Amino acid sequence: MSDNQNVFVGLDLGTTKICAIVGEFNNNELEIVGVGIHPSHGLKRGVVVNIDETVDSIKVAVEEAERMAGCEIQSVHVGIAGGHIKGITGHGMITLRNREVTKRDIERVIESANALMIPADREIIHVIPQEYTVDGETGIKDPVGICGIKLETNVHIVTGQVTAAQNLIKCIHLAGMDVSDVVLEQIASSKAVLTHDEKEIGVVIIDCGGGTTDIAIFSGSSIRYTENLTLGGDHLDKDIALGLSVSLSEARKLKERYGVALSELVSSEETIQIDSVGGRRQRQISRKELSMIIEPRMEEIFSLVKREIIKSGHQNLLPAGAVITGGSVIMEGSVDLVERILGMPVRLGIPMEVGGLKDIIANPIYSTGVGLVQYGASNPDNSVRKIRIRDENIFKKVFDSMKNWFQEFF
Ligand SMILES: Nc1ncnc2c1ncn2[C@@H]1O[C@H](COP(=O)(O)OP(=O)(O)OP(=O)(O)O)[C@@H](O)[C@H]1O
Ligand SMILES: [Mg+2]
Repeated sequence: MSDNQNVFVGLDLGTTKICAIVGEFNNNELEIVGVGIHPSHGLKRGVVVNIDETVDSIKVAVEEAERMAGCEIQSVHVGIAGGHIKGITGHGMITLRNREVTKRDIERVIESANALMIPADREIIHVIPQEYTVDGETGIKDPVGICGIKLETNVHIVTGQVTAAQNLIKCIHLAGMDVSDVVLEQIASSKAVLTHDEKEIGVVIIDCGGGTTDIAIFSGSSIRYTENLTLGGDHLDKDIALGLSVSLSEARKLKERYGVALSELVSSEETIQIDSVGGRRQRQISRKELSMIIEPRMEEIFSLVKREIIKSGHQNLLPAGAVITGGSVIMEGSVDLVERILGMPVRLGIPMEVGGLKDIIANPIYSTGVGLVQYGASNPDNSVRKIRIRDENIFKKVFDSMKNWFQEFF
């Protein structure tokens, strides 16, 4: 492995799996050179509930990725998710007194948007400016150099519970690594699976994992809305276990092997063998019966997603439709079901625009992990930043987040 400065590591602490992905950035190309994955036991609905178990899983996943990449991982970009995450839009305004907008003005206007009271138990994770208005002229991406009297901006501010972020960081420190940055999971996934055009014209990304379903809406190349639901594919396992009287692990196996999201896609003739709870002998059920348990839960999850899209006010502003990713949409029929529920075009999102171990990471379960590497590579300054939660000055963190944005867009 060449220069360590060019190496970025994404650590996705999912509810069902922990994965570490190592990427090397050379000549404008990101090559994935290491992937480590291990079942996750210490998280519930995207939040750490058992430190020791989480640390153990992190160590195994990271060691595997290190072996494959032939490097020692010192610092990672980690994803954050869970029902505690809140995305809000703030508005900022400053006066310019008839002169050109400077970079310092941009900092000031974002700061003024950010003067919204953030409660002491919440940590700012991202401050992402959407666009600027100079003297009523809206939709300006980069106002530096424009003359005016009044500069305004809308910013998307993502906050999370301080304790949830602290526990995440504590686990990584205990596993012997530093945290370069904490990134909202769907922002990471969007880096891996969305195209520039989709983000420009309007798209929603939905990452349906084991314990959470994460949503982000983009238009005009800016993030407009984020929401995290504490529902995911693991709920299907419980439904199947109850419905068919099988163990949870058998339920998951059945779902992953034979599950179909839309029951009308399965013929009633197809049968599958199942092991009942308590080691009773095997019996046969129709595959349709299994899909009739799965369908209503998938419908529930994506109906809640639809409600969020309507709540965002962007439902009619998504010509590029929806991109679905995460392990739960691997299931046959997912695209058709989501298309039907959301009433818009839907495609399956898998990580793209990376080289190296392409075949391994071409799977929706790696969208967040690969996206974290891409986020790191597009914000290289972060690789030396060591996050401390609630340090002396909250605004320092805000400006650090802004700095990321400057690097990305200027
Ligand atoms: N072929 C498949 N068919 C149906 N479900 C699948 C399939 N493969 C994986 N899954 C399900 O996908 C889920 C895991 O997805 P993913 O790896 O994206 O979640 P995670 O990142 O661990 O969790 P989260 O993001 O919710 O914290 C599990 O519920 C798993 O059973
Ligand atoms: Mg996930």
